[in-house]
Formats: sequence, structure tokens, C-alpha cells
Amino acid sequence: MDNNRGQWSSKIGFVFAAAGSAIGLGNIWRFPYVVGENGGAAFVLLYILFVILIGLPYMFAELALGRSSQKNPVGAINSIKQDSLWKWVGGLGVLTGIGILSFYGVIAGWTFGYIFKTATGNLGEFGDFVSNPFIVLLLFAVFMFITTMIVYGGVERGIERWSKILMPILFILLVGLIIYANTLEGSGEGLAFYLQPDFSKITGRTMLAALGQAFFSMSLGMGLMITYGSYVSKKENLISSAFLIGLFDTLIAIMAGLIIFPALFAMGENPSAGPSLVFVIFPKLFTQMPGGLIVGTFFFLLLSVAALTSTISLLEVPVAYMVDEKKVKRKKIVWVVALFTYIIGIPSALSQGASGFFTEFSILPDRLSSPDFLGHMSFLWGDFSLAFGAFLLSIFVGWVWGGENAARELESGSPFFARTKTIWIFMIRYFIPIVIFMILLNLFGIFD
Ligand code: TRP
Repeated sequence: MDNNRGQWSSKIGFVFAAAGSAIGLGNIWRFPYVVGENGGAAFVLLYILFVILIGLPYMFAELALGRSSQKNPVGAINSIKQDSLWKWVGGLGVLTGIGILSFYGVIAGWTFGYIFKTATGNLGEFGDFVSNPFIVLLLFAVFMFITTMIVYGGVERGIERWSKILMPILFILLVGLIIYANTLEGSGEGLAFYLQPDFSKITGRTMLAALGQAFFSMSLGMGLMITYGSYVSKKENLISSAFLIGLFDTLIAIMAGLIIFPALFAMGENPSAGPSLVFVIFPKLFTQMPGGLIVGTFFFLLLSVAALTSTISLLEVPVAYMVDEKKVKRKKIVWVVALFTYIIGIPSALSQGASGFFTEFSILPDRLSSPDFLGHMSFLWGDFSLAFGAFLLSIFVGWVWGGENAARELESGSPFFARTKTIWIFMIRYFIPIVIFMILLNLFGIFD
């Protein structure tokens, strides 16, 4: 490599780091409650369809742009179309990273807190826990601090090694929990809710929720894969890497659902409880399970690590932008960006009962976002901005950079891609932007 930006140590190192970014609270916390809110199995099918038809081919585009330019999202766009308005698309990505991290860090803080709550057997009521302003702000601060410390040292070292050891353990733990949850009395009904589709449940809002969740879960739409792709060598096969990332990510989300829904129906709980869902169901499961508190402590520990590899990636995008484009020192700017993110995250942290104002914050219609500040942030950055960013980026790659140029980059390391590239170019130029555009239009309720 001709510069000192650093590089992943191997293909598997890159796949683990990117899968580490993708796999996180999005799979285990967000996926189940979004499925629950949107009626179950039909949504799951729609989700899988979007992962395959939109998420994966779109991921190729971000990775190609990143590896070809070896830059952050803004720099990558600038290197192709200098000083045009397009660089604002990269800018939107950088902002979105901060926006997502501002609420994601709050949830990650709860997860971290649950390690100790479970270990001490002091599970209590979730509502009491999240409405305690002191506790939530402290946990959010601790989590942001750990994230900052790791990004401070540069991405390529710590994250790769950690994810390689801990992610497989999380996988095994989930398998065990699936088996346990499905032996509970009454769990069959939950499995049916999760796996037997009722297509009348699909509406315009469901479509955006499924698409937004696909982008969110695979870390797409804000240039994260541009940034991580910029550290990949030309010899690596980007196509097979993207497949592995998408496969692991989807697998973990589906597995989380296979625990939550059977458990939830067995306990007679409501699947559409929203963001509190997994924080209510998992502790209950651990309380009644033999040896559950030990298993539960491990579970929340591994979930915190999964969240950490995601918060690292979220912080890395704005940091890489500042370091590359504004020529500031990484070791200084990480703290500035992290502190800024923490401050704008405070309203989200207080929006689950601690502050009446933020808890009842509602400027978006209820069909789009839950009526609290965190819900608004999650919709704005986690659904809308990712879909909008992906819409613009697919146009940029397909039309401005050119599908042919992008395809050539993808062929390096995966010669097989040449055979399917016509289809891919069609998808990135027409299919992907048009589908996203229609789903975005539907936000205004046009086709409902
Ligand atoms: N994908 C992560 C999750 O599922 C969250 C995340 C990390 C993310 N980096 C991202 C989402 C970049 C969008 C873009 O938990």
C-alpha cells in the first residue's frame, strides 16, 4: 500500500471487521421489535428479499467505491467528481454516522448495564431502569468512552482480533438459547407468528421499515462500507466477502427472532412492545431458566461486544473523514467527535421516562416513528437517512462514476464477476434507485 492509512491483515480480517460492524444491536435488539411491530413473518420475508435484491448488490457498490479511491465517503466522491455537489452525499453519510451513534450508544449503554444487573440477579423492571437519568447517562458515557479508546488506536488492530474470538461464541450461545426457548410451553404460537406469513400485514410503512432495517443491519447507506472497503487490498474478492457479511448478518438476526418470538408467546407477552422488547423478554427468560443468570451475564457481555464493534465503525466514519479531509490528528479529533455525539445523544438517553418532554416528544406522525425522542432519531437517521443516502449513492456509482468502472473494480480479485456484471450494472443504475425512490415517496402515504 502506498500510504499509511493502514489495511486489514487478511480477507478474513476484513470480513470479520465488516461483519462486526454489521452484527450488533440491529440484529438482536432492533430486528425482533421491528418484526413484532410489523406483523411477523410477512415482514421477515420482505426483509430477506430486500437483503438479497437491494442490500447485497448495493454493498458491492460501496465497497468498490471505497477500495478504488482508498478514502472516506467524502474523499471517495471527490476523487471521482471533484468539488461537485455530490460531496454532500458523503457529508450526509458522515452526519448520519453521528446521528445513529447518538441513539445507538444509549441502547449499547443499557446492554452494558444489563451485564451487571444480570450478574447480581437484580433484574427489576426495565421501565424503572431506563427512566433513571443518572444511570442511563452514566452507562451511555462509559460505552462512548470505551468506543473512543479503541478508535483512538486505529481500527485495524483491536477490532479484528476481538471479533474473531467473540463473535463465534455469541453464535453458539444463540444456538443454545434457540433450543431452550423452543421447548417452552406455548412457544409454537410464537414460531408461527414469526414464520407463517400473512401478506395482508404489508403496507407502505412496512416496506420502508423492511428496507431501512436491511440497510441498518448491514451497515449500508452512510458510507461505512466505503470506509472499510478503503482498507481492503486489490487482491481480495469483494463479492464473496460481501456475501459472507450479508449471510452472517442475516443469520444472526433470524436466530434472535427464533429465541424472542417463541419465548414471548410462551410468556404471554405482546410482540409489538417496541424498543423495550428484548430488554423485557431476555431477562424473563434468564430468570426462569436453570443457570439462567450465568448464561444471561454472558449473553449481555457478548451483546455489548457486538454493539462495540458496531459503535466503533460508526465513530470511524466521521473520524476518517476529519483525518483525511481536514488533516487533523486522529488522536485529538476522536475525542471531539465522541463528545459532540454524546451531547446530542442526551435527549435520546432521557427519552425513555427520565424527561417528560423528550419521552413525549412527537413531531413525526405515529405511523412513521414512535412518539419519543429516541424513536424520532431512529427513524430519521436509522431508516430515512440510510435509504436516502443509498438512493443517492447508487445513482452516483451507477451514473456518475459509471457502472462499468465500478464493475471493473469489483472484478479485481473476483474475475467471476465479469459474467454477471451486466445484471449488476442494471441493478445499480435502475432497479435499486427506483425501488428506493418509490419506497421513500410512500413515506407521504402515496400508495397506501
Ligand atoms: N449494523 C449495525 C447493527 O446492526 C449498526 C451500524 C453500525 C450501522 N455501523 C453502521 C448502521 C453504519 C448503518 C450504517 O447493529
